Amino acid sequence: MAAVLDTVRALFAPDTFTVAEENPADVVAREALLDRQMGADRRKKSSEKLRRGRLPAQGLALVARDSKGHVIGTVRLWNVEAGVGRDGVPVEALLLGPLAVDSAHEGKGIGSALMRAAITEAARRGHGAILLVGDAPYYERFGFFADKTRHLMMPGPFARERFLALELKDGWLEAAAGMLAASGRKLSRPTLKRAA
Ligand SMILES: CC(C)(COP(=O)(O)OP(=O)(O)OC[C@H]1O[C@@H](n2cnc3c(N)ncnc32)[C@H](O)[C@@H]1OP(=O)(O)O)[C@@H](O)C(=O)NCCC(=O)NCCS
Repeated sequence: MAAVLDTVRALFAPDTFTVAEENPADVVAREALLDRQMGADRRKKSSEKLRRGRLPAQGLALVARDSKGHVIGTVRLWNVEAGVGRDGVPVEALLLGPLAVDSAHEGKGIGSALMRAAITEAARRGHGAILLVGDAPYYERFGFFADKTRHLMMPGPFARERFLALELKDGWLEAAAGMLAASGRKLSRPTLKRAA
């Protein structure tokens, strides 16, 4: 009976959500959500090499919350160098991911809201391009295409047709060539004091 009541409540619950910057209290819920949605293998992806030991780009770790404040979606973006340009200077860009929405809330536009908020905020902060590895049929609707990354490589195995980019400034990736490298702020590790 309780299960039936829960289903009825879920059917009539307002599908309201908000998107906001993540705060430290969200970390446990965000990690649990990613484990549920993407499985343990998520840490073996090539993108993870560019995220490990780094902080997300300033102001670009976002969560979606339900009306009670619970985390039901997450997206983060990371500072990377997208190879080098014609002048040999590294091309600063952002790597997006992971993006995930709680399975109980899929199909309500939460993933799209997170993507649009992330793109808007990245543009507002003056970034030139966003790259990601993901399903083209999903990300094309936000302007991400594989032709923008044709001279770039991930630091590990990747499927070229899933390696996509969106330019926030026209021509930002035009001459970018080479391998992506992490360029974000490093996570500070607590230093252990030796016993005297
Ligand atoms: C992908 C994901 C973030 C979408 O979140 P969401 O809140 O359900 O997305 P939205 O409600 O904004 O959009 C739903 C639409 O996207 C489509 N869609 C969802 N995943 C898709 C995919 N992998 N490929 C193509 N289309 C996809 C749905 O069919 C739906 O289409 P419609 O608008 O024509 O009905 C979510 O399903 C998820 O967390 N998946 C598991 C984690 C994952 O795979 N993340 C990376 C994606 S490559």
